[in-house]
Amino acid sequence: MLTQPQWYQTAVFYELNVRAFKDNNDDGQGDLQGVISQIDYLADLGIDCLWLLPITPSPLVDDGYDVADYFGVHPDYGNLDDFRALIAAAHAHGIRVVADLIMNHTSDQHPWFQASRRRQEPYTDYYVWSDTDQAYSDARIIFLDTEDSNWVWDDEREQYYWHRFYSQQPDLNFDNPAVQEEMFNIARFWMDMGLDGFRADAVPYLFEREGTNCENLPETHAFLKRLRAMMEDEYPHAILLCEANQWPQDVRPYFGGDPNDNSVPGDEFHIGFHFPVMPRLYMALKRGDRSPVVDILKRTPGIPANCQWCTFLRNHDELTLEMVTEAERQWMWEQYAPEPRMRLNLGIRRRLAPLLGNDRRRIELLNSLLFTLPGSPIIYYGDEIGMGDNIWLPDRNGVRTPMQWDDSANAGFSNAAELYAPVIDDAVYGYQRVNVASQIFNPTSLLNRMRTLITTYKEQPALALGDIQFLDHPDRALLAFKRITRHETIICLHNLSDRGVSVEIPGTYDLLAHVRWSEGRITLLPYGYRWLKVD
Ligand code: NOJ
Repeated sequence: MLTQPQWYQTAVFYELNVRAFKDNNDDGQGDLQGVISQIDYLADLGIDCLWLLPITPSPLVDDGYDVADYFGVHPDYGNLDDFRALIAAAHAHGIRVVADLIMNHTSDQHPWFQASRRRQEPYTDYYVWSDTDQAYSDARIIFLDTEDSNWVWDDEREQYYWHRFYSQQPDLNFDNPAVQEEMFNIARFWMDMGLDGFRADAVPYLFEREGTNCENLPETHAFLKRLRAMMEDEYPHAILLCEANQWPQDVRPYFGGDPNDNSVPGDEFHIGFHFPVMPRLYMALKRGDRSPVVDILKRTPGIPANCQWCTFLRNHDELTLEMVTEAERQWMWEQYAPEPRMRLNLGIRRRLAPLLGNDRRRIELLNSLLFTLPGSPIIYYGDEIGMGDNIWLPDRNGVRTPMQWDDSANAGFSNAAELYAPVIDDAVYGYQRVNVASQIFNPTSLLNRMRTLITTYKEQPALALGDIQFLDHPDRALLAFKRITRHETIICLHNLSDRGVSVEIPGTYDLLAHVRWSEGRITLLPYGYRWLKVD
């Protein structure tokens, strides 16, 4: 077991879809052995922790977020021995592994649900059943494009069941202590195999209460604190990463401790996604105006010293626009999703490179912000080489296509005749042009730039742990801030516009260009960025 206290505060995470990464047995599906075969690539990239998307058995209505068995591995991906082998291989390379813990719901194919429908004990009250579909009417619908109610009538039980996501994903009843105990045992099972923690899925929705929007309820926090306490007691190495797509003030309680005193250690989640900052990075870039980013970070409350935010540019879902105003959402759709097929629910189902017009300068700029703004960065597989998307695939599958390893057939992903999804094959992002092999030995490639950003980030603890102080500048295209610890100060400059921007700086050492700047004026190129250590 790896031990290093609070490693998650300085870690670079890498989100990986096992199905999409590498197919080792040539059945057209990526698998755990495939990930093992590429562990050197991941170690070489410099990442510290893998986040595996769901791998348990599932009918895959929601790509594994519809769990049919919490204690196994989907046969497409391998078996529990393969899982143990992956943990061992990762740990041998100094890489930790976290995986999704899906507590809010199961698949409707899960045996618990099948038994609950038949009112078979002890499962009768494992789910949220009701005689009416009018209960909890203040709860919003999340999958707006496919669902028109959070209730579904079940003919067998002759009652409605509650679900926050797809109708095939009934919500578990957390008011039932047996359900809570099941979750503890599921978490124990995976940590016993060496897992380093969980990305806890959809945690705001665990409990329901009439007259509320059924999000972030006190009962939910109380349960999560008990889960954390169990982990502290039994698996102190393991972390909990919070998926709560909420405003920063509503995420703050998920860290626990005392909201009025950040010197009190957090006792709920170790680390939590900062959702609202993400769309604002794209907004600021398009407008050439730093305000959206500065405003949201200024409204972000402090968190306990043992906690950390987690930031990302893209992930396996649509780029969510839930945490923006209606006017901003419309604007973001116009700017970044001009075609209806690019939109899904309240978001945009595209990858990083296509969102940024495949402009290397802007791709680097947003990545620079990912590494220099507060929070541990997560890279989404394939974005390190600038992979494209396929908007013709349904749901979010267009951003989950096979990893592009080389320019051979199937992008070096698999030797099968048929793949779970087509590889990207267009003129701009096709695997013939965009692949690992063509970038890995090219010193100027995006991949190698990402390696440099990762290495430099890890050499500079101030970027992970420092306080942030924004610098005022009359030109709003300049997003400039200091990251400050007791021992050092790093000035991070970002030009959000397509013209040069000049700025006065003190004497510094340029951490990326490896030159010393004497006090005076420097000019950032269009979309330029610099990481400057104050002498
Ligand atoms: C959030 C996950 O990221 C998403 O992919 C999934 O559909 C929902 N939670 C439901 O589990």
